[in-house]
Amino acid sequence: MIIKDYVRERKNVLKDEISSFERTPKLVIIQVNDDPASCAYVKGKLKDAAEIGINAELLKFPVTITQEELLKEIEKVNNDESVDGLIVQMPLPKGIDEELIKLSVNPTKDVDGFHPLSSFVPCTPKGIIDYLKASEVNFVGKNAVVIGRSNIVGKPVAKLLLQEHCNVTVLHSRTKEEDMNFYIAHADIIVIAIGKMHFLDKQTFKKSAVVVDVGISRDENGLHGDARPGLDVALQTPVPGGVGLLTRLSLMSNLVLAYKNKIGK
Ligand code: GUN
Repeated sequence: MIIKDYVRERKNVLKDEISSFERTPKLVIIQVNDDPASCAYVKGKLKDAAEIGINAELLKFPVTITQEELLKEIEKVNNDESVDGLIVQMPLPKGIDEELIKLSVNPTKDVDGFHPLSSFVPCTPKGIIDYLKASEVNFVGKNAVVIGRSNIVGKPVAKLLLQEHCNVTVLHSRTKEEDMNFYIAHADIIVIAIGKMHFLDKQTFKKSAVVVDVGISRDENGLHGDARPGLDVALQTPVPGGVGLLTRLSLMSNLVLAYKNKIGK
């Protein structure tokens, strides 16, 4: 299924659902870093929220904010009864401990799913699995290869694929090239998130393989994924217009869940 069509359909369903709510669900986005990538991500999230009827408020702070001041700002939002979900856009400037910040967000509002006790599944992994399911990809007993072991993508994707009964192998920067090639050649599902432009290219792939490209690299020609476009496989997600849209969709879907959890109380 084309990602753009899938996302549009799911957003319409969320929009209909939200229109039946008693009040408008509210998301707060805290942004400290002013780099172009963070600004682009935040802009996309604000656009999605506006489209489907979520009230999204951006709290932007200068890069000179101290960790203590940031923690205080997060605490204010944690305690604000009118807020359903809170995300802190990563990365944060040097000198601020990202892991500490992730732990400071109230787990019931942590719609990014970064806190270990979060009520929510992390957005990128959830977006990928939901999309593959909608595309009727088979998981049971299939060889899934995850390339990259980050806390935001690699590790949680591996866990979700395992829950779907895949045989999961996680490869990374210390994997030997011959082993990398071996696992890729036998993979039914490949999820790659290493930020190395067109890393997947000349390797041998199963024609029936599914390639999910999480990578984003920028150069003078624009944005590029970790896989060269047009691999000889059954399904390959594009960059741009691929996993980024799925991540944003999951964020909106988690926010709707946060609202419902709150109302259910
Ligand atoms: N930076 C890159 N991806 C993400 C994301 O999904 N959430 C947040 N908060 N920051 C990010």
